[in-house]
Amino acid sequence: MMKYNLCGRSGIRLPALSLGLWHNFGSVDSFETAREMLLAAFDAGICHFDLANNYGPEPGSAEENFGRILRADLAAHRDEMFISTKAGHAMWPGVYGDGSSRKSLIASCDQSLRRMGLEYVDVFYSHRYDGVTPIEETMQALVDIVRSGKALYVGISKYPVHLQQQCYDYLQAHGVPCLLSQYPANMFKRGAIAEGAASNLAVAAENGSGFICFSPLAQGLLTSKYFNGIPAHSRAARSTGYLQPQQVTPQRVEAARQLHAVAASRGQTLPQMALAWLLHDARVTSVIIGTSSVPQLMDNLQTLEHLEFSAEVLQRIESILSADGLAM
Ligand SMILES: NC(=O)c1ccc[n+]([C@@H]2O[C@H](COP(=O)([O-])OP(=O)(O)OC[C@H]3O[C@@H](n4cnc5c(N)ncnc54)[C@H](OP(=O)(O)O)[C@@H]3O)[C@@H](O)[C@H]2O)c1
Repeated sequence: MMKYNLCGRSGIRLPALSLGLWHNFGSVDSFETAREMLLAAFDAGICHFDLANNYGPEPGSAEENFGRILRADLAAHRDEMFISTKAGHAMWPGVYGDGSSRKSLIASCDQSLRRMGLEYVDVFYSHRYDGVTPIEETMQALVDIVRSGKALYVGISKYPVHLQQQCYDYLQAHGVPCLLSQYPANMFKRGAIAEGAASNLAVAAENGSGFICFSPLAQGLLTSKYFNGIPAHSRAARSTGYLQPQQVTPQRVEAARQLHAVAASRGQTLPQMALAWLLHDARVTSVIIGTSSVPQLMDNLQTLEHLEFSAEVLQRIESILSADGLAM
């Protein structure tokens, strides 16, 4: 059964597992598989879908496909769905198609709504700090997107910890508190969720923002699929996949093998244990999974049947993760 967590200091509950459409929903992918995954996820209680302007490829095609499925199969359920999109990475050619300026964000939000056939999104994110645009300009654009009725809430993604507080303060002062902070987090990438008061997770929690983790399986490295090399139908093998073959290192595969054994001793698959490990921290609102098939989705959904960890198992995991060469 799906578990729903309150999102920071807000009235919104999000499913512990959300579905992301970065890969596997673009124009290069099977539309039928995409549709089956989306409908199976919604049937299982996954009501939060995470998109961005540039998801595809082609950029924009994940939003187009999502809109097509929404219109054909889920139109009656819009009020039961929590849909996010983002702008900030390269999207369209030309000087305004990239970055976090007011011009780019507002134009991109309008384009996303048109592609998905929506009147509003539930969350609009600044996808990244672009290194140039003043924080005040980007945050004011988010505030104005909410004021114009095109989004209900706002979020930030991947902002460095030293800028996070500035974002929260600006948004709070302008009456549009930051609902969600989205960061990469998995067993091989732990910076955002590191222990202590200075991690992205700690700063988000301190400010009442919900926290949502992306790439929770390190794009597939935290599964058994790379135990015997790189299979043809895997993200590392695909020319359009973001996971590079050279990231599939012997050290990471060996660690995954050892983690797989720990997971088996808990009666779980490695993906299930890796997802549960993230959700174990009560400050984590949700984890965004990405799947390439319905069986993967079903596997991941079973995570919710066993979320608890003994101190001894956490220690075993920690000792595996302390090996050199795992960090991404
Ligand atoms: N804010 C940002 O900048 C940002 C960046 C990245 C991602 N995100 C969000 O986070 C979402 C998830 O990211 P992600 O796709 O990298 O997540 P992920 O869960 O780390 O990787 C997903 C991949 O893992 C494999 N997989 C998943 N479940 C499996 C299972 N049970 N058994 C075997 N393999 C399994 C599949 O690989 P194969 O394809 O090889 O089968 C799948 O494509 C994205 O869709 C997006 O919404 C946000």
